[in-house]
Amino acid sequence: MDTFVVQGGNPLVGTIRVSGAKNSALPCMAAAILTEEPITLENIPQVRDISTERRLLQSMGAEVEIGSGETAHSTTISCRTLSDPVAKYEIVKTMRASSLVLGPLIARTGMARVAMPGGCAIGGRPIDLHIKGLEKMGATITQEHGYIEARADRLRGAHFVFDKITVTGTEDLLMAAVLADGETVMENCAREPEVVDLASLLVTMGANIEGAGTATIRVSGVSKLRGARYRINPDRIEAGTFLIAGAITGGDLIVSHCNTSHLGAVIAKLLEAGARVEVLGPDTVRVRSNGRLAAADISTEEYPGFPTDMQAQYMALATQAEGTSLVRENIFENRFMHVQELVRMGAGIKVDGKTATVLGPARLSAAAVMCSDLRASASLVLAALVAEGETIIDRVYHMDRGYEQIDEKLRSVGAKIQRLGNLFPPRPSA
Ligand code: EPZ
Repeated sequence: MDTFVVQGGNPLVGTIRVSGAKNSALPCMAAAILTEEPITLENIPQVRDISTERRLLQSMGAEVEIGSGETAHSTTISCRTLSDPVAKYEIVKTMRASSLVLGPLIARTGMARVAMPGGCAIGGRPIDLHIKGLEKMGATITQEHGYIEARADRLRGAHFVFDKITVTGTEDLLMAAVLADGETVMENCAREPEVVDLASLLVTMGANIEGAGTATIRVSGVSKLRGARYRINPDRIEAGTFLIAGAITGGDLIVSHCNTSHLGAVIAKLLEAGARVEVLGPDTVRVRSNGRLAAADISTEEYPGFPTDMQAQYMALATQAEGTSLVRENIFENRFMHVQELVRMGAGIKVDGKTATVLGPARLSAAAVMCSDLRASASLVLAALVAEGETIIDRVYHMDRGYEQIDEKLRSVGAKIQRLGNLFPPRPSA
């Protein structure tokens, strides 16, 4: 398991490039199941979750080509034959988003066997709302031996309202609806840019979709979809993470190849915290800070509110802000795994239910810390960039799931960060 060694104290200066959005690429790759023709996706990030999804699709019989050289960030997926429409537990247990194949598999083949995703560090991650919507569309669903088995001769259009806003639930059912018989109306949908990315790909494939990006999506089912070539949007969470890196280190950082229209809540919060943020164009934003920041509260909400995927990163910033910041996590039930690690570095944080109270500024000192989930890992790297001394961050494979070459990108703008092999050999069993 790789480890990062980070020497704190360097302001980040220069230009850092954002990769394609992991959370757009995952549903768009699953959409290839919906057609016999090849789908080529560009601006795909080279991260572990994408490799996992490639393995998942190949295990079902898809042909997956990975670009090389100039086209290394593209992938072509052909699901001409799906010899084994089963999402096996060995793969699903490493990536919950595998549930995204459920809708497209039933829509294309009339059946699906998908391992129940199980929980993860940040919460139980149920998919009851995916199942409820598919049943409304006529699927028969049974659950046994840890697998969901779904069958439907042909899904039929339905009208339903999501009990809760769910990003992959909206995406899964959108992919089911595009080949269903008749009209589907889905209300209380997720409005995330990743949903819009998926809908744009599906329309390019010949789907009839209206309202993606709003709370109500209407779909008129078609009998077949064609192949397509589509470029994935930039990753708004990676971009936000870099903006916080520039602010927390008192640097002058230009974040390029992003989509600034997706960064509204994060930019507003950084301005409130006293960072100087300038949108230089539709794909470029500059952040400057003298390192002195003001406390500002956040409450995570569905898009376009402050993203839950930016909560851990913001908390690292709040440890350096003058005053008390309240960080409220409304989306997941256990998304404060980074708190104890930040406290070990000297942060002053108290958690009470959904709210963490952060007292700042705290002088952070280097420590040996451990990643627990993707965004908590980012929080630890941000804290290490300002901590006194050399921080050792273990289990960075969590970070590699969703950040492409994060150590190389940060080093290119002045961070002292090195990736080492396994510094902590597995403890001998007691
Ligand atoms: C997506 O997860 C993202 N993952 C997550 O990003 C992100 O944190 C989350 O949306 C919220 O924005 C991908 O897109 C691959 P939800 P998802 O369904 O779809 C509850 C990252 O760091 N819920 O919107 O799984 C659920 O428990 C990852 O990149 C149900 O109760 O999240 C949660 O409390 C982490 N029943 C809330 O809804 C369901 O059937 C929102 O979850 C589905 C969800």
